Amino acid sequence: MRIGILTGGGDCPGLNAVIRAVTKSLIQRCGAEVIGIEDGYLGLIERRVRPLSWDDVSSILAVGGTILGTSNKATPFSWQGRDHSGACAEYVRDLQLEALVAIGGDGTMTIAQRFGEHAGVPVVGVPKTIDNDIEGTERSFGFDTAVATVTDALERVQTTGQSHGRVMIVETMGRYAGWIALEAGLAGAADVILLPEIGYDVQQIAKVCRSRAARRRSTLICVAEGAKPAGGELTVESTIADSPDPIRLGGVAHVLRAQLQPLVNAEVRATVLGHVQRGGSPTPFDRVLATQYGNAAAHLLQNRDYHRMVALQRGELSSVSLNEVANKNRLVPPDHPLLVCAREIGVCLGDD
Ligand code: F6P
Repeated sequence: MRIGILTGGGDCPGLNAVIRAVTKSLIQRCGAEVIGIEDGYLGLIERRVRPLSWDDVSSILAVGGTILGTSNKATPFSWQGRDHSGACAEYVRDLQLEALVAIGGDGTMTIAQRFGEHAGVPVVGVPKTIDNDIEGTERSFGFDTAVATVTDALERVQTTGQSHGRVMIVETMGRYAGWIALEAGLAGAADVILLPEIGYDVQQIAKVCRSRAARRRSTLICVAEGAKPAGGELTVESTIADSPDPIRLGGVAHVLRAQLQPLVNAEVRATVLGHVQRGGSPTPFDRVLATQYGNAAAHLLQNRDYHRMVALQRGELSSVSLNEVANKNRLVPPDHPLLVCAREIGVCLGDD
């Protein structure tokens, strides 16, 4: 058996742990040959691959990034104005690959589903993203590491905020989903947590800051990069017009800083965490999850159970059809237990 493996989309802690587990499991259990495809789908288009031996994947479990490289622009269906899917499928046949393992997020899974269906290339998916927003699984590896990084940052920002009596805003990644901000906000004792799924009212947030300042308390706000005011979009123009001083515009944290500053009697500061959330070594939880996912993907391949993504459902390892995963995002539902818990312990979610 010969299997190709690629990592697609933005990188994430735990990618190497999956590559290692898939390769070792396939070699150990069925003597398979594993071929690494470089830079995601771009490597299929540009015909760049290399064999992966047992030794090649030893000592990479805890290493951040991906030894194969990744790309988030190229797809077999569209790259530099052309459709390469036929040529990519032919390359897979030339390499005598029986199937591909695609490790990636919603975009990579959507392409995997299409590539499997239209180009006739069997694919098994492994869910990766710090955003934790892939349909069909309650956990993607990388999320736990991002939450740990953000929690640490919140604690650090909180102590300096308390020393100066300031309102401190920390912006997390997460794209359209608020999972990172929600879990890290709770773990890092944020007073206000703002998610894309719940439009915020800046007056409500200001009320919390003023009430805390009156009790000589600083305020810690954890805001997801996709958060928006209720019923409105953030626009750079409106922010410039509303801003009393030339605050640097960037992510939502800076916009919120400009909106809040005139409404509170404390200094407001903003920190955008950015790619520190994606780099570095995975947590023990992510190392174990990524290893289990890699091994489970090898099982699907050995059973020729293709067109599926490995998943975690109700705490159990499982798998789901790529058809159920493609073109979807898993957002925080309004009745999620962590939202209910946050409200009940007095965390402001920006809407009350
Ligand atoms: O999907 C992962 C993610 O890190 C998001 O949280 C973020 O919005 C995006 O990727 C950033 O992408 P890039 O590295 O291309 O700026």
